[in-house]
Amino acid sequence: MKLVYSILRVVGLVALAIVLAEISLENNDKYAFEVYPFLWLIIGVVFLIAIAIEISAGALHSVLYKSLTPEARAQFDLTENSKKEAKLEWWRKAYKNLLDKKPVENEGEIILDHDYDGIRELDNNLPPWWLYGFYATIIFAFVYMFKYHVFDGTTQREEYLIEVAEAQEAVDEYKKNAKGLLTANTVELLTGETDIKAGNAIFTANCVACHKVDAGGGIGPNLVDSYWILGGGVKNVFNTITEGGRPGKGMVAWKTNLKPDEIAQVTSYVLSLHGTTPLDPKEPEGELYVDPDAHVEQVEVEMKDSTSVEIKMGYDGE
Ligand code: HEC
Repeated sequence: MKLVYSILRVVGLVALAIVLAEISLENNDKYAFEVYPFLWLIIGVVFLIAIAIEISAGALHSVLYKSLTPEARAQFDLTENSKKEAKLEWWRKAYKNLLDKKPVENEGEIILDHDYDGIRELDNNLPPWWLYGFYATIIFAFVYMFKYHVFDGTTQREEYLIEVAEAQEAVDEYKKNAKGLLTANTVELLTGETDIKAGNAIFTANCVACHKVDAGGGIGPNLVDSYWILGGGVKNVFNTITEGGRPGKGMVAWKTNLKPDEIAQVTSYVLSLHGTTPLDPKEPEGELYVDPDAHVEQVEVEMKDSTSVEIKMGYDGE
């Protein structure tokens, strides 16, 4: 029994040291022991010291015990036993108090006077363990009500929204640095020769069947003019290639076959063809797309007649 107590004390002490280390060295989501591996060393030392203390206390105890005269020893045993007895008695009493049951011999005092075919009912007190639990729930309910409904504590919904916002921030931060994770919002026009060449290769391998080698258009629309069905500019074109055209038109979503940075390359290649003259161009389809960021270089206003004018604008890169 003594050995069991010793082991429990040692384990308890080590556990306490670990918990204290975790609490005091708070480190976001990581365990303190992951961040500071030398803590294991400290715990090891605590463990050894605890064992040493247990051993020397045990040894001291037995040396002192052996040094007693036989009478003193008997006296000592007696007091030890009565201490143990008193402890046990305390537990027994506490257990009884928590149940608050009438002993069988006194049941007559609490029996109710109805009788159903010999089945009778006792009017026991509610067991205190249950009753105090019930009071505890009432107190909890008040605390809860005041915290969340009177003083506007953070509700589960708000906690959820806060966490989602934090996660969104982390995702944005990650996306900023990850090249393979381009989206229509973050994509930029690529102008480097290698990117345009790679885009050309992707276009030749996947797109010429419908858009023709010179992108003049076939089954798919002309991609070199200024008119776009689904919107021009790098972001719209990236989005069209990623997500596909309108349903049933034949332009599939390429995100299943091409990686985002490949789509950015082929987008940039397609846009680099803007203004070239294909052999057999298809008629423009869709709407004239004007890049909102383009720098207007020249504006020509031509009087057609007295009521209408034609405005021609030259943009960068045209
Ligand atoms: C099976 C034929 C087909 C293939 C292959 C194809 N497209 Fe298309 N593409 C179309 C059609 C049809 C449309 C028109 C979609 C619509 O009207 O919604 C289109 C539309 C587009 C548009 C939008 C044009 C606009 O006016 O808004 C772009 C950009 C485009 N394709 C690029 C590509 C690229 C890049 C590839 C190769 C990765 C490709 N397409 C492969 C048939 C194809």
